[in-house]
Amino acid sequence: MRRAIALLFFICLTLSGKAVYADTEKLQILLQRNNCTACHLIDKRKYGPKLTEVAAKYANDAGAVKTLAAKIKAGGTGVWGEDIMPPQPHVSDTDARTIAEYILALK
Ligand code: HEC
Repeated sequence: MRRAIALLFFICLTLSGKAVYADTEKLQILLQRNNCTACHLIDKRKYGPKLTEVAAKYANDAGAVKTLAAKIKAGGTGVWGEDIMPPQPHVSDTDARTIAEYILALK
């Protein structure tokens, strides 16, 4: 019985590990498709903040998906310094929301 539980636990760990990996891959595809990678990388600072630090900043913010989805389309400045993120009108509402969700799921 104990062995069965241990096995189940292991399977869950493996599956959840894969899910996180898959989401990072999907995020990467969306970032490339919407040209975000000109300024953002997931785990390295480029012109804009790296996306893992964005995730950390909003970790306890329940409204963060909405805030970030809006910012992704409208751009802005002043949160991470003086640099300006230009508006990204080519990004669909669905993509903006999905990207915000994936960013916030980063560890
Ligand atoms: C021309 C460079 C540039 C491009 C292209 C760009 N960004 Fe940004 N982004 C920035 C800068 C600079 C900031 C910091 C703005 C600030 O301090 O308020 C930023 C901030 C952000 C933030 C954090 C917002 C906040 O208020 O904390 C997110 C999320 C983000 N960008 C996502 C994206 C996504 C998704 C795309 C692609 C659709 C994108 N960015 C395209 C430069 C860029």
